[in-house]
Amino acid sequence: MKVQRLTIRCMAAIAGVWVASSVGMVQTASVSAQAQARGNGRSSQHGAELFATTCPVCHGEAGVGSSAPTLRGAKFTPGYVRQAMSEGRPGTMMPRFTGVFTAAEIEAVARYVASLQSAPRPAESGLRGDAAAGETAFFRPQRAYSCAVCHSVNGRGGRVGPDLAQKAASKSARELFEKIVLAPHRLKDVAYAPSRLTTKLEVLTGIKAGETPDVVRFYDTRALPPVLRTIDKSDVVSLTTMPGSVMPTDYASRFTLQELLDIVAFVKSTGSGPDIQVRFQDVFPRQ
Ligand code: HEC
Ligand code: HEC
Repeated sequence: MKVQRLTIRCMAAIAGVWVASSVGMVQTASVSAQAQARGNGRSSQHGAELFATTCPVCHGEAGVGSSAPTLRGAKFTPGYVRQAMSEGRPGTMMPRFTGVFTAAEIEAVARYVASLQSAPRPAESGLRGDAAAGETAFFRPQRAYSCAVCHSVNGRGGRVGPDLAQKAASKSARELFEKIVLAPHRLKDVAYAPSRLTTKLEVLTGIKAGETPDVVRFYDTRALPPVLRTIDKSDVVSLTTMPGSVMPTDYASRFTLQELLDIVAFVKSTGSGPDIQVRFQDVFPRQ
């Protein structure tokens, strides 16, 4: 589970680069994210583990190919892989790992990839989302970060974010997954725009829930679960909207890949029925 959690964190980082590069931003995000993933005393990790947390998002589990080429075949000697990793493939998605990994780490991964050549070819990732397990994860009451603290499905759950049973349920598995793990995502709907509410005593951030002539009701999302506050208008100094979203942006590290697939299956099942299939490949399609 640990490796999976790291893998997904890396996927999110890399997918973030896809989003970033499509809006013309530089690709440094992946380098720093990966350097960070490598931090925490992980620099001496074995090649297999580094491979598992970095390469499968593009090259598939155990290098059997995904959106990037299969790393199987006679040409994948340690020297060949070392060179590909050190230089990257400019103009393609293949990143340059110099500066991200140390020379020793590049060597360890290269040796691991070379060692795969004799290993039996494993089946494609068999991970599948399970809508019933996703429902449990979505509503898990002891988790401050469970989706239901903010979202409802068919009226059951929180009111801070939109009900996910209608519009969201009709999105593709891939789109839903991106909306859950990637920032910036996000609806343009002003009803969900985050705001800053300054009172005479404190500054709250969150989402305005409503008002009467005398009071403002406000979901304070500074800590989760959100707290619904009622503030006398006479205490309000200012109320301004902010860019972004109150939805947490770190679900890739709070849930395992299996749990995220389960949640995607659950959200989709609210529109399409319990027989919905969400497979790993639906979220990370081959290109
Ligand atoms: C963001 C996607 C991505 C990631 C992450 C990635 N690669 Fe690649 N890699 C590619 C693509 C795309 C190509 C094909 C480039 C081309 O068309 O020349 C490639 C090519 C390669 C090649 C050369 C393949 C050949 O047939 O010559 C090697 C070796 C390689 N990658 C190793 C790795 C290793 C090892 C890792 C992890 C440390 C890794 N890659 C991570 C996308 C990726
Ligand atoms: C702190 C509150 C909060 C939590 C917790 C939260 N969300 Fe959200 N979410 C929002 C808000 C507000 C929006 C609408 C603004 C936006 O799109 O960011 C939103 C938007 C979304 C959307 C896009 C909806 C659409 O129609 O495009 C999806 C999908 C979603 N959330 C799923 C989830 C899932 C699944 C979880 C749990 C893993 C979760 N959210 C946890 C507040 C939250």
